[in-house]
Amino acid sequence: MKYLNIALSAASLASAVVLPEADAGKVNYDGYKLVHVETSDDGRSSIFSTASTLADTITLQGCDHGEHVDFAVPAHEFDAFNALGLNATVVEEDLGAAIAAEGPLVPFEAPEAAALPSATWFNAYHSYADHLSFLKSVQAAFPSNSEIFTVGQTYEKRDITGIHLWGSGGKDSKPVVYYHATVHAREWIATMVAEYLLYQLVSGYSNGTTSTFLDNFDFYIIPVVNPDGFVYSQQSTRLWRKNRQVRSGISAVGTDINRNWPNHWDTPGGASTTPSAEDYKGEAACDTPECKVLTTFSNKIAAKNGIRWYIDFHSYAKDILLPYGYSCSARVANLAAQQSLANSMKTTIAQAYGTQFTAGPICSTIYQATGGSTDYLTDTTKVTYAWAIELRGTSFVLPADQIVPSGIEIWNGVKAILPKLV
Ligand SMILES: *[C@@H]1O[C@H](CO)[C@@H](O)[C@H](O)[C@H]1NC(C)=O
Ligand SMILES: *[C@@H]1O[C@H](CO)[C@@H](O)[C@H](O)[C@H]1NC(C)=O
Ligand SMILES: [Zn+2]
Repeated sequence: MKYLNIALSAASLASAVVLPEADAGKVNYDGYKLVHVETSDDGRSSIFSTASTLADTITLQGCDHGEHVDFAVPAHEFDAFNALGLNATVVEEDLGAAIAAEGPLVPFEAPEAAALPSATWFNAYHSYADHLSFLKSVQAAFPSNSEIFTVGQTYEKRDITGIHLWGSGGKDSKPVVYYHATVHAREWIATMVAEYLLYQLVSGYSNGTTSTFLDNFDFYIIPVVNPDGFVYSQQSTRLWRKNRQVRSGISAVGTDINRNWPNHWDTPGGASTTPSAEDYKGEAACDTPECKVLTTFSNKIAAKNGIRWYIDFHSYAKDILLPYGYSCSARVANLAAQQSLANSMKTTIAQAYGTQFTAGPICSTIYQATGGSTDYLTDTTKVTYAWAIELRGTSFVLPADQIVPSGIEIWNGVKAILPKLV
């Protein structure tokens, strides 16, 4: 077994890890099976170490229920993997084929001046540069009620970019609804769904279908919170999760930004201290450039009228996750209200396609996770409802024809919740 980031760092040559066949820097997952292994929270580390006897098998930190651990197993190790006797189910027969089924990254088509981009945007995945073009184009079509903002810079000096929308009361006159997506680089559907929500909010404003939403809230939407990782997942390693931070004296690249926020960062058990692990928490609380600028920015927008509702979009597990992640016994003060809202969102989500989400606190629903944005925003930024949503999918890789259904079911859920937050 190896962690992806060990596999791809130059210094890992010493550990004699064999890379998945890389061609011009792009990892080839052809023939890899994606395998779920049933376990309990307590069994996770023993499964990791059992599987560590397999040199080329990749451990994937699922954004997933605690009873699963995921592995990408290459064909030549599959018999040996089976011989480990784990309770394993193959959920993707060929990751390479699944990635091919995502389709190509389709270029952005600029609309006529001041018009919204075509909704065909949601029929395909796109490059990071095109996501920025899309955002600018939506803003240009809605000039009096929106602006592009930047949060600050990433490790590789990209601007973390978002769009702010407002309604009849003018800019920054209302409580905030705040959406993040794709802090985990490989969870591409999250970017598309955040943009789908944006597109619905803007396109419905002129005929009045969404004007009460914008008149009641300032929306801050950041479709790609981790652009360095996102670009790397598109150009090199489709299943990359973390940022791309290099640390002195540490060969493995990348920190899990969503284990690095300064909230119960020191609590053991909810993140890894091993730099090569996918949920590596960093060397100190908030020591990633992304965490620094995101915490500052979040506190800044909260300072005016407060943040009413935050969602951090992830995939895949079909969950609506409430605080807390760091502890299964700590209860957020307004838990009953949070659970009731989440239950109503879950019911509405199921109406379009029958997709069944689970709603509950992070720790008890999936697993203990420390240093997550939802806990920080709950405790420090005082966000009323700070959630993570795990979108549909049976793996991180989702065919492009599921972008629109995923957008529709979540938009239905959002529309049902917003009037309850006023
Ligand atoms: C394997 O996992 C399934 C759930 O997918 C469970 O029903 C079954 O009891 C497990 N078997 C063993 C031997 O643990
Ligand atoms: C308003 O516009 C949106 C977006 O174009 C559209 O989906 C919706 O059907 C329209 N509703 C009405 C009542 O015209
Ligand atoms: Zn995630």
